[in-house]
Amino acid sequence: MSRLSYVDKIILAPMVRMGTLPLRLLALRYGADIVYTEEIVDKKMVRTKRVVNDILGTIDFIDEFDGSVVFRTCNEESNYVVFQVGTSDPELAVQVAKTVEKDVAGFDVNMGCPKEFSIKGGMGAALLKQPDKVKDILTNLVSNVAIPVTCKIRLLPNIEETMDLARTIQNCGVAAIAVHGRTKEERPQHPNNNEAIKRIAEDLSIPVIANGGSKEIDSYEHVLKFRMATGASSVMIARAAQYNSSVFRKEGKLPLDEVIPEYLRLCIEYDNVFTNTKYCVQMMLRDLQETPMGKRLLESKTEEEIYKIWGLLDYYKKKQEEFKNLSLKLQVTLPS
Ligand code: FNR
Repeated sequence: MSRLSYVDKIILAPMVRMGTLPLRLLALRYGADIVYTEEIVDKKMVRTKRVVNDILGTIDFIDEFDGSVVFRTCNEESNYVVFQVGTSDPELAVQVAKTVEKDVAGFDVNMGCPKEFSIKGGMGAALLKQPDKVKDILTNLVSNVAIPVTCKIRLLPNIEETMDLARTIQNCGVAAIAVHGRTKEERPQHPNNNEAIKRIAEDLSIPVIANGGSKEIDSYEHVLKFRMATGASSVMIARAAQYNSSVFRKEGKLPLDEVIPEYLRLCIEYDNVFTNTKYCVQMMLRDLQETPMGKRLLESKTEEEIYKIWGLLDYYKKKQEEFKNLSLKLQVTLPS
């Protein structure tokens, strides 16, 4: 397997709950070059067990306490998937990276999350103010892990400070850095500071991945425009891909009534958990949640009900039957 390059790439951003296997595969099929997992916190990941799932053709990392699937991946994405960890601990970060390094193409540290849970745990954006901790985490990873290591940051209030931090990060030997052009205090409705990303991209020698442009992104052309505006090597898209992952298509975006069934087929094929499937489709529907279809989705209590709305109930039943037969043959059960 060749080492993942972050040059000239269009990337699906890490998104908690959204970035599970079905969305990552859909984004890849629509043209994304690299897909990031949702952030998974180190303490949660270290208590998982790696299981080869012969029924689905996946590798599952199963929580040893409650049996839930914490991370599911498969061959189709193995050369393109980047695992994102939430951490404030250099040792635990390496432990997590070692657990997944044979199954993923890259390893990323979240240094941008502004949520209270992350900040209180010294993770995410809390790291932006702790360059020594950042150095410890990244150098420990770079020297102990076989796959490329990256991180994703936000801007600090002052551009010089941000550039200093970016240089510190570069000196740790990371393969690339993703920069979200907002500060920890700024919300998605604030304009993204493309100029700051440009300054950082000009200053560093490693690839810079520009992020934060979704407000102005509704098509592949807009993705390219965002790259031009930031002068970055690569771009990373979150919300625009959350709403409609066919934004990665060079040939143009597809209507949601084509994208959602494609997404649901993947949920069926990879036995995605109901609550996650429902949440993700709700996020895709946005304003359409008020339509009769949207209301049916909101009211749904089982996966059968969701698949019925999009005419996929027969396909769901067929795949479930296949899984059942295969599990009898292999004498194993599917994880929850
Ligand atoms: C995010 N974001 C995020 N960032 C990160 O580093 N790890 C994560 O797990 C998440 N989770 C997450 C969930 C959801 C639903 C959203 C919308 C966002 C932030 C995201 O990756 C990105 O930095 C911002 O959304 C800005 O990029 P866009 O949306 O303008 O392309």
